[in-house]
Amino acid sequence: MDKKVILITGGATRLAKELAKSLVSDNYLVIVHYNQSENDANLLKEELGRSCEIIQYNFLDNESKVFFEKVLSKFGRLDIIINAASIFSKQSLGEIDEKMIENYNIIHSNVPLLLTIYLYEHLVIRNERGSVINFTDAGLNRPSLNRIPYFLSKSSLSFQTKLLAKELAPYVRVNELAPGLIMPNNKDKDYFAKMEDKIKLGLGSYDDIIFSVNYLLNAKYITGEKIKVDGGLYF
Ligand SMILES: NC(=O)c1ccc[n+]([C@@H]2O[C@H](COP(=O)([O-])OP(=O)(O)OC[C@H]3O[C@@H](n4cnc5c(N)ncnc54)[C@H](OP(=O)(O)O)[C@@H]3O)[C@@H](O)[C@H]2O)c1
Repeated sequence: MDKKVILITGGATRLAKELAKSLVSDNYLVIVHYNQSENDANLLKEELGRSCEIIQYNFLDNESKVFFEKVLSKFGRLDIIINAASIFSKQSLGEIDEKMIENYNIIHSNVPLLLTIYLYEHLVIRNERGSVINFTDAGLNRPSLNRIPYFLSKSSLSFQTKLLAKELAPYVRVNELAPGLIMPNNKDKDYFAKMEDKIKLGLGSYDDIIFSVNYLLNAKYITGEKIKVDGGLYF
């Protein structure tokens, strides 16, 4: 059987990079999208060889159709999208402006929406079935005021998951994966350390994410669902 082709957005670094490696070892063909991390993307391509292609696109350039066509040209088809690209910064209420809100929405909601629609159209033409996994955040259950554009745009992605699951079936299953405290960035290390004892199952690791992604990819009768991977931190 032909290998399935997966696009992972924001896949050259951190969580999604580990996921890309695991998917290649599970016999998928992986297209790793990156924006600024060209070096990391090249190293990953070198490590993963012919099962991996890389592609650059800044979501803020608003050329998602062109980007999608380039993605298709890599292996001649696409079956699955993992929407993982993200921005994550703290700001006070006074720092929030139109541009910031717009950028968060473009990255977390607009581009994932367009890519999912393009995948659907592509699968209808091929008369094949595929799926989309949207990375949101378990913290949506208890959002904080210091990241309003982040939580609003991720909750839009969460809502989109259910809406599209209904509209695009049976061609595309659309599910949501909501990580908890998995991989800190440099600014979050102290917070993660402080929270470790407060989470009954401790901190998570990228293996926990990979396990759940594999489940969603194989669960052919599941759509419009959310899996929280947070060790019971948020209910
Ligand atoms: N890490 C965690 O513990 C955690 C917790 C909750 C939720 N999540 C979610 O899980 C996913 C992966 O997490 P992560 O921490 O590994 O992600 P991340 O480091 O915050 O971001 C992933 C990638 O998004 C890309 N990106 C940023 N701005 C972009 C733009 N304008 N255009 C295109 N791509 C852009 C970046 O690509 P370049 O580097 O190439 O520029 C970056 O490598 C994210 O959706 C995140 O929200 C993670």
